[in-house]
Amino acid sequence: MELRIDTFKSYQTAYLKSIESPQLFWSEIASAFEWFAPHQQTFNGSMEEGNIRWFDGGKLNITINALDRHLESKGNDPAIIWEPNDPDDLNETISYKQLHQRVCAFGSALRSCGIEKGDRVILYMPMTPELAIAVLACARIGAVHSVVFAGFSAQALADRIQDAQAKMVITADESRRGGKTIPLKSVVDAALTSCPSIEKVIVQRVTGSACPMESERDIWMHEFLAASKDSNCPPEIMEAEDPLFILYTSGSTGKPKGVVHTTGGYMVYTAYSFANVFQYEPGDIYWCTADIGWITGHSYIIYGPLLNGATTLMFEGIPTYPDASRFWAVCEKYRVNQFYTAPTAIRSLMASGRKCVEKHDLSALKVLGTVGEPINEEAWHWYNEVVGKSNCPIVDTWWQTETGGIMISGLGNLSPTKPAHAGLPLPGIDPVLLDPEGNEITQPNIEGLLCIRSPWPSMIRTTYGDHERCLSTYFRPFPGYYFTGDGARKDELGMIRVIGRVDDVINVSGHRFGTAEIESAINQSEMAVESAVVGFDHEIKGQGIHAFVITEEPIPLHDQGAARARIIDSVEREIGKIARPDRIQFVAALPKTRSGKIMRRILRKVANGDFDGFGDTSTLLDPSVVESIVNNAKSLWFATN
Ligand code: PRX
Repeated sequence: MELRIDTFKSYQTAYLKSIESPQLFWSEIASAFEWFAPHQQTFNGSMEEGNIRWFDGGKLNITINALDRHLESKGNDPAIIWEPNDPDDLNETISYKQLHQRVCAFGSALRSCGIEKGDRVILYMPMTPELAIAVLACARIGAVHSVVFAGFSAQALADRIQDAQAKMVITADESRRGGKTIPLKSVVDAALTSCPSIEKVIVQRVTGSACPMESERDIWMHEFLAASKDSNCPPEIMEAEDPLFILYTSGSTGKPKGVVHTTGGYMVYTAYSFANVFQYEPGDIYWCTADIGWITGHSYIIYGPLLNGATTLMFEGIPTYPDASRFWAVCEKYRVNQFYTAPTAIRSLMASGRKCVEKHDLSALKVLGTVGEPINEEAWHWYNEVVGKSNCPIVDTWWQTETGGIMISGLGNLSPTKPAHAGLPLPGIDPVLLDPEGNEITQPNIEGLLCIRSPWPSMIRTTYGDHERCLSTYFRPFPGYYFTGDGARKDELGMIRVIGRVDDVINVSGHRFGTAEIESAINQSEMAVESAVVGFDHEIKGQGIHAFVITEEPIPLHDQGAARARIIDSVEREIGKIARPDRIQFVAALPKTRSGKIMRRILRKVANGDFDGFGDTSTLLDPSVVESIVNNAKSLWFATN
C-alpha cells in the first residue's frame, strides 16, 4: 500500500475515512509494513483512562522496516548523507546496505556486552552517523534508547540516567559545534559519580583529544565493535506495545519527564506523516536540521525517512559556521529537495541578510518545513520569498515530543497555506478547541485550549516510572481528550494557528523548559532565596528567559554583575547553557496572592516591557510589591533593549 496521498481531494477523502472509521483506516496503513505477526486489534484502550494500545497482537522489529525491507530494491541507494561540522572535512554517504551492516554490527556488539531487550541505553553523542546507528542498533535488539541532547549538563544527564535506571551510556570524547568543542566524556564522568546503574560506557573517538578511560567501565567504540566478530544480528521480536524509546522533556512542574513511545504505533505514524507532509519522492534528498537529541531528530531524521526508504541528510554543525550561509551552501552542495528547520534558525539567518542565501543555487528545493514554535509572519514571508523564491510550499508542522509525529500541517504542495498557521490536521488527527470549562468552541477565530479528541498511533503511552503524572498532565484535565498545553485558534476554513503554551512551559529557540525547572536551578545557587521565571518575546529565540530573584541580602549595584554570573553558573550546572536566563532582575519580593501563589501574569507583562495596567491586583498580599518591581525593571529593561 502506498502511504503517500497525492492530491488535496484524496487528503479530504482520507481524512473523512480516518475520522469515521479510524480502526479500519489505521489497520490498512499498518498493512504497508512488515510484521512477524499481524495485529489482532487495531486500537485497544480508552482516552478517558489514559490507556492507549495500538496494534495489539502485532509483532515486529522497526529496523526490519527501516532497513532490511529496502535492501533488495534500494540496497545501494544512499540512506544517510553525513555533512561534517567543518565543510573541508570528509563527508560520508552510507547506503542502505552499509547502514544495515553497521547497525547489525553495533547491535551484536551491544548484545555481547550484555544489553538485552528492555534495558535502557543512554546516548549522549554528537551528530555523527554513529548516533543514528546506535539508535537503530538499540531498536534492533529491543533495548530502549534514550537520547540526551549533548548540550545538557552533567547534573541533567545524571537525572535522566537515574530516572531511566539505564545500564549503559554511549558517548564520544568530544563533540564539535562550530568553532568549539564540547568535552562530552568528562561530562559523562561527572554524571556517573551518582549513577550506579551504569555498567559500561562506550566512547566514540571524534576529535582524538586526551580522554581518561576507566578500565573496568569504559570501552572505545572501535574496540567494542572489533571485539564482536558477529555481524549477524537477528532482530528482536517486539510486541507492538513494547517500548521503543524514552525521551525526556520539560513539563510545568518538577523534573523533566520521560515520554515513552512504543514500537508499532510510532512506526506507522512517523512513516505515514513523513511521506505525506514532505511529499517525498524516490531520489529526493531530504534534510532536517534538528539534533537527534530532540523528538524532531528521532521522528524526522531517523525513523520517518528510513521507514520510507528515503535519503536523509544529517548535519553535525551549526547554521552560522563557518559563516551564516552554511545551510544554503549545504542545500546547494547536495541539491536538497525538502528542507526542514526551526523558526529560530530562520530568524537568525534572516538577520544576516538575503545575500547569504542568494549566492547559492537553491533551485532543487521543493518543500520547506518549520517546527518547534510559532513562526511569525515576517519570518514566514522571508522563508517563502528569499529561500523558497515563492515557489515552495511551507509546511508549518505543529506537534510535540508527546505526539511522536506531526499532527497539524500542510502536506507539501497539496494543501492551502496561510502565514503563521499550521493549517489542517493530518488524517487520523481530530483537534478541538476547548474553553477552560471543557466546552468545545465551535465559532471561528476564538482562542481556546488545543486538545485532541481521538487517539492516534504515535501518542505518548506513559511517563517513565510515573504513569500518574502522565494521566494528570494529559488525560485528566479534559476527560476523553488529550490536552496539549497549547492555546490555538481556528479560522473559518478550519486552518489552525497555534499561539503558544498556556502552562508554565517556555519555548526558547524551540527548546522546552519548565519555569519550575529553571527556578529550581537558580535556587541551587547559594545566594538565591526564591525566584520566578517567565518568558518574554525575543526577536530571535521566540522567547527569552527573564528571572526575578530574591536574595538573602540586597545586592549592591556594583556587585550585581558577579551575582548574576553565579546564578548563571548554577543554571548551567543544573541544566546546561541552553537554559541560561537572558535577564536576571533582583527583587525584594514577588507579587503573591494571599494564598501564596505567584501572579505570573504580572511578571510576564513586566518582562515584556509593558508597565501599565496590571488588571485586578486586589488578591495580592502586598500590591506595593508591583510598583517596586516595575521601577526596578524599567532601568534593567531600558539598559538591555
Ligand atoms: O508549543 C508548541 C511548540 O512546541 C511545543 C512542543 O515542544 P517539543 O515537545 O519540544 O517538540 C518540538 C518539536 C516537535 C508545542 O507544545 N510548537 C511545536 N511546533 C509548533 C509549535 N508551536 C507553533 N507552531 C508549530 N509549528
